[in-house]
Amino acid sequence: LIDEAIAAANSMRCDELLFSYKGILYPTTLCSPETFKALESFEARRDDVILAGYPKSGTNWLSQILTDLIAISQKKTPGSESSANAEEQEEFPYLEVGDAEKYERMSKLSSPRFMVTHLRPENLPISIFQNNAKILLLIRNPKDVATSFFHFSNRLATLPSYETWDDFFTNFMTKKMPWGCYFEYLSEWNKYAEKENIMTITYEEVKENPALSVKNIATFFGIPLTEEQLQLVLERSSFQSMKKNSDKTHGSFGNILFRKGGVSDWKNIFSEDQNEKMDKAFEEQIAGTKLGKKLKY
Ligand code: A3P
Repeated sequence: LIDEAIAAANSMRCDELLFSYKGILYPTTLCSPETFKALESFEARRDDVILAGYPKSGTNWLSQILTDLIAISQKKTPGSESSANAEEQEEFPYLEVGDAEKYERMSKLSSPRFMVTHLRPENLPISIFQNNAKILLLIRNPKDVATSFFHFSNRLATLPSYETWDDFFTNFMTKKMPWGCYFEYLSEWNKYAEKENIMTITYEEVKENPALSVKNIATFFGIPLTEEQLQLVLERSSFQSMKKNSDKTHGSFGNILFRKGGVSDWKNIFSEDQNEKMDKAFEEQIAGTKLGKKLKY
C-alpha cells in the first residue's frame, strides 16, 4: 500500500499532496474523505487492540511489540510462519489509511483485531469508546517528534518536503502538518487520559526500560507472558533487529522509517530560539496536563 502511495505521489505536485478534512490536513495518497466518512460507522469490538500515536512517535515499533503479543495470546510463536506481523496481516493496520470498503472487510476478521491510528479521539468512530475497546496511547517528546517528522517528510514522496529545517519548524508550530498539530493532538487525548481502557506510554520509557514496558503492555491487554516469550518480543522489537528485517517487513519504506531510533536527536537540529519557542508553547499548552506531566520533556 505504501509503495502504491509513493508511486501515485511521484506524479503529483507538492500542493496536491495534502488535503483538508474537518480542518485537519492528511496525505492525499493515503487517506480520503470517502474513507473518513465510512470510518464513522466502523463497529469496534471490546477485544480490539488499538494503538494510538501521532506520526513519528514510534508507532511502527509499538506495532511490532503488539502484534507479537497478540500472536502469543493465540498460542503462536512470534516470527514463526503461522504468525503474521503488522505488515502482513489481512488489512493494513493504520485504521484511517486505505479504501472506504476496508471496514466492511474488517468486520469479517476474527478477533483480536489489531489497528493503529494517528487520529485524534474526536475523529475516531464513537463505537471505540462506547464498546470500551482498549487503547495504548503512545506519546513522545515533541522535539524528537518534530525532528523525526522533518527527516521523514523530506525522504517520503507522499509528504511535502521542506527546503530547510526552519521552514519545517514554522509549519510544525503553526499547525500545518499532516494529521494536524501535535500539541492539539496531546490536548485532545488528554481529555481521555483518565479512562481505564486507555493506557499511556512514552517512547522514552520504552527505550529506557523495554522489558518493564512490554510486561506492562501485556498486563494491560490481559496477555500472560513467560520469561522466554518476553525475551523473544524484546529481541524482535529492538531497533537493530527491526532495521535489519525492514526489507522483509516494510520493503523500501524501511530505509526511510528506521532512522536513528533514539532520544534527544532534536539537540542536533533545533536552534536556541526554536528551543525557547517550543518550550514556551509546551509550557502554555501541555505542561500542566496529565499527558504533559508524563512526557519526558
Ligand atoms: P527517528 O526518526 O527519531 O529515528 P513512527 O513509526 O511512528 O513513524 O515513528 C518512527 C520513529 O520511531 C523513528 O524515529 C524510528 O527510528 C523510531 N523507531 C522505529 N522502530 C524503533 C525501535 N525498534 N526502537 C526505537 N525506535 C524506533
